[in-house]
Amino acid sequence: MKLIIHPSDSLTGEVTVPGDKSISHRALIFAAVADGLSTARHWLDAGVTARMVDCIRALGIEVEVEPTGSGRATLRVHGQGLYGLSAPAQPLFCGGSATTMRLMMGLLATQPFTSTLDGHEGLRRRPMERIAQPLRQMGAKIDTTAGHAPLAITGGRLHAIDYDMPVASAQLQTALILAALGAEGRMTLHQPGPARDHTLRLLRHQGIDIQGEDQGIIAFSMEKTALKPLNFTVPGDMSSAAFLMTAALTVPHSEVVIRGVNTNYTRTGLLDVLQAMGGPLTRQNEQSQAGEPVADVSVKAGRLEGVEVKGEIVVRMIDEFPIFTVAALHAHGKTLVRDAAELRLKESDRIAVVIEELGKMGAKITPHPDGFEIEGPQPLTGAVVRSQRDHRLAMSLAVAGLSATGTTIIEDAQELNESFPGFIETLQSLGAKIETHD
Ligand code: S3P
Repeated sequence: MKLIIHPSDSLTGEVTVPGDKSISHRALIFAAVADGLSTARHWLDAGVTARMVDCIRALGIEVEVEPTGSGRATLRVHGQGLYGLSAPAQPLFCGGSATTMRLMMGLLATQPFTSTLDGHEGLRRRPMERIAQPLRQMGAKIDTTAGHAPLAITGGRLHAIDYDMPVASAQLQTALILAALGAEGRMTLHQPGPARDHTLRLLRHQGIDIQGEDQGIIAFSMEKTALKPLNFTVPGDMSSAAFLMTAALTVPHSEVVIRGVNTNYTRTGLLDVLQAMGGPLTRQNEQSQAGEPVADVSVKAGRLEGVEVKGEIVVRMIDEFPIFTVAALHAHGKTLVRDAAELRLKESDRIAVVIEELGKMGAKITPHPDGFEIEGPQPLTGAVVRSQRDHRLAMSLAVAGLSATGTTIIEDAQELNESFPGFIETLQSLGAKIETHD
């Protein structure tokens, strides 16, 4: 799919975004091991979650996905308890979804059979040893391919450990919690900083007495506790709303409201940084939805000032750096990002590819090993660019094109449906001039 983006005069209107990707992944995998039927409405029906549906079905669990709109579905999972899974007949294919692979590693470590996990080229480059190593300590047998997929996992009865996590990664935390569901003893995780906490919130709904991450310590023990089924509505994804927020800030005369967005503190790093840059963003109608805070986010076009982003806030906006770069190019003065080396291990090396592709539009960005530096504002010029198979880069380039001079063409935009199906239609409904060609 090819995208042609023209400069747009203004973006106006009210929209919603599909359900949160992290919560949708967790709803599916935790429902599969609950006792009974779980239902999740406004569940994210996209490329990344489809891979996890395939994996869970391959383990013998009945999963129904009833579409309710672009990227939205009602999910029904007929959970059979932790030991109701059966050995898969084929290797489990995770596509490009690291969340699927890493969470499946935790689950499969509890199962008394051998399974293989694999993914496409991009996923085979991503580090898996950080999950494999503590799972081995718990008693699972895990063979990696020099630290990467394909992986072979032979699970069984595990023992809980007291573990110092080397990175504040929510995927690592969740994989270890999944493994602890099948472990004897009390599991204690020491997390070096705040990471998204959706797993803890969902597990509390499922009846698990899990201690919060006060001072970075997560502790619980399963001891024959069964997980209750889930019945809830997934809030809108802040990481998808981030593209619309930045589009509204950077396209002149825009005024946009995004309804029903998850405003969990562990996810609002970009919103907080854009506000610190002077961006006119406000939250309204704040309420709680199944243990997660949700609000409407109003955004207007406005002047932004350069900012420093480093330390703990980096993890709270870890998926938002490609689109944050677009905001920083519009900002007056210097923007500096540090402590973000993890960006080099995402769907792509997000420091290198963002600099390369936005560079084709005239952006001058100085790389650092753990971040980058921008002196703004920098006007952008339309160009022919590539997504490099990274969905968040594709969406960031599209947003950059809306306020550039001339036409921007994204040659390989099919990755867009990985996390935000309906992204183009949503922007078009706000007045963006975007064409798609097969
Ligand atoms: C995710 C956690 C983050 C994030 C990813 C989703 C999750 O990864 O980048 O898109 O659902 O737990 P890390 O935990 O590895 O930082």
